[in-house]
Amino acid sequence: MAAALTSRVTLRAAPVVRGAKASKAAATTRPTRSLATRAAIADLPKENKDTKVLVVGGTGYIGKFVVRELCAQGYDVTAFVREKSGIGGKTDASGAKSMFPDASVKFGSVGSVDSIRSGAFDSDYDVVVSCLASRTGGIKDSWDVDYQATKNVLDVAREKGAKHFVLLSAICVQKPLLTFQAAKLKFEEELQSATDISHSIVRPTAFFKSLAGQVESVQKGGPYVMFGDGQLASCKPISERDLAKYMAECIRDASLENKVLPIGGPGKAMSALEQGTMLFDILGMEPKFVKVPIEVMDGVIKILDTFAGFFANMRDAAEFGKIGRYYAAESMLVLDSTTGEYDASKTPSYGTDTLEAFFKKVSVEGLAGQELGDQAVFK
Ligand SMILES: NC(=O)c1ccc[n+]([C@@H]2O[C@H](COP(=O)([O-])OP(=O)(O)OC[C@H]3O[C@@H](n4cnc5c(N)ncnc54)[C@H](OP(=O)(O)O)[C@@H]3O)[C@@H](O)[C@H]2O)c1
Repeated sequence: MAAALTSRVTLRAAPVVRGAKASKAAATTRPTRSLATRAAIADLPKENKDTKVLVVGGTGYIGKFVVRELCAQGYDVTAFVREKSGIGGKTDASGAKSMFPDASVKFGSVGSVDSIRSGAFDSDYDVVVSCLASRTGGIKDSWDVDYQATKNVLDVAREKGAKHFVLLSAICVQKPLLTFQAAKLKFEEELQSATDISHSIVRPTAFFKSLAGQVESVQKGGPYVMFGDGQLASCKPISERDLAKYMAECIRDASLENKVLPIGGPGKAMSALEQGTMLFDILGMEPKFVKVPIEVMDGVIKILDTFAGFFANMRDAAEFGKIGRYYAAESMLVLDSTTGEYDASKTPSYGTDTLEAFFKKVSVEGLAGQELGDQAVFK
């Protein structure tokens, strides 16, 4: 029940500044301390073609766009991937190679420092970009991937003299109540305290795929399901393409260096109610909403938590319930530490792809490429 409901529920979005302006607005939000001893973007080769970039997590929803964007910008790109990658491990080695015709693709496991050393770092890199993330959001998997595997990559990157590390994180780690957020934060902290490599920590708001789950059911005449009055939380969704461009900017733009960078897409912040209303409008249908009291989620979590106390195999189910509850009630916007409120005006915007255009597109072309996969509960 929790999964079914939450998979339909949105994450949420706010204001528009583009390109370099957005970058600077974002950068000023959370500067990290500067460490003079660090390697720096200024030390990178001046030409993109001479700049060697390793991408891990390149077979994911955002990672694919990052690899392609870096290739399009002329970087010398290597993607380090699993032999069986993608949702359900359905992509084999030749599939991964054909996905990235302009990159070199190497195979191995980020779970093993030895594999990273021998499989990926058989040559050196100037920059490492991580789009790694647990595909399930489960407790062990989050620690294994969002923390340990990403740290394995950082450790080898430092050992081999990489100069800059770009991390795809998530805006929700600013209010960490979930295991995957704790795992991401722990890694962020270690990256920030590394004195020999510079970093850009990108914390995006909601992805389009997280908001697309109800397009097909609404098209078929179903209601738009939301929690509370549909205004419990808001977000500024960003497309894969725009986010990939922003991450690529982190390699060259010194104003994005050694910073934590919250970032959203263009347009104002939107609640679930506003997203649903927009969807009905696009489809030319009479709005039909189902409002689920948030207390329903609390009840489900209580039951799952009780079972998890007795059965270890129920712990992930309880965690998934909490993830669903989190996204139903917490905005994906910058949390103002002085007021304790989410603030759309403090959430930088970047790019040009709008949720409205995305809804229009998927209502005609379908949801191919927007699959939630194993993490349907919160992605
Ligand atoms: N969904 C949202 O709205 C949202 C919003 C803000 C931030 N975020 C964050 O953005 C990040 C990326 O999201 P995404 O949707 O692009 O993720 P994704 O599609 O699930 O991709 C995850 C990537 O990590 C790799 N990976 C996972 N487990 C692995 C393992 N054990 N060993 C090796 N590789 C492994 C996957 O490789 P395989 O292909 O081999 O499985 C894949 O390349 C996440 O940290 C997420 O929390 C999401």
